[in-house]
Amino acid sequence: MKSELTVNGRKIELDVEPRMSLLDALRDELGLVGTHAGCEHGVCGACTVIADGEAVRACLILAVQADGLDITTIEGLAPARGELSVLQDSFCETHALQCGYCTSGFLLAATVLLRRTENPSRAEIERAISGNLCRCTGYTQIIEAIELAAERLGHRNTNEPEGAA
Ligand code: FES
Ligand code: FES
Repeated sequence: MKSELTVNGRKIELDVEPRMSLLDALRDELGLVGTHAGCEHGVCGACTVIADGEAVRACLILAVQADGLDITTIEGLAPARGELSVLQDSFCETHALQCGYCTSGFLLAATVLLRRTENPSRAEIERAISGNLCRCTGYTQIIEAIELAAERLGHRNTNEPEGAA
């Protein structure tokens, strides 16, 4: 079946089995392996992508259901090749990752939060990442990274392009 979607700003036409998940399509058909497969049944958040502005689990959506959606994966988060977004840089600075398996999911969930909420409270940050599991960090540094990114983005000129988070 055909599915036409936009992935990281590029129009893509997929021809996939009806049972193929968006997660498998991103990884296996498009080579975007930064979207990680964890539990593959909606629990861990490792597969989080942004679809039409919402953080969603790519393992719970069929590729054919993504028809018409505008998807951002971790590969589309940085402002330019070889650069990091403010949020990615904050994750590095606060040591918010260890093995990194969960990290792309956290970054995308937090990106949605920061696009909507200029100065999120700790409770809002916790809620935004509550669907993402990390087995390594204990979450404290991840929350600090998001707070740091919010602070840095708050000091920026509001003309920054969308996605710079
Ligand atoms: S792989 Fe999708 S939620 Fe775990
Ligand atoms: S950094 Fe290892 S699971 Fe989160």
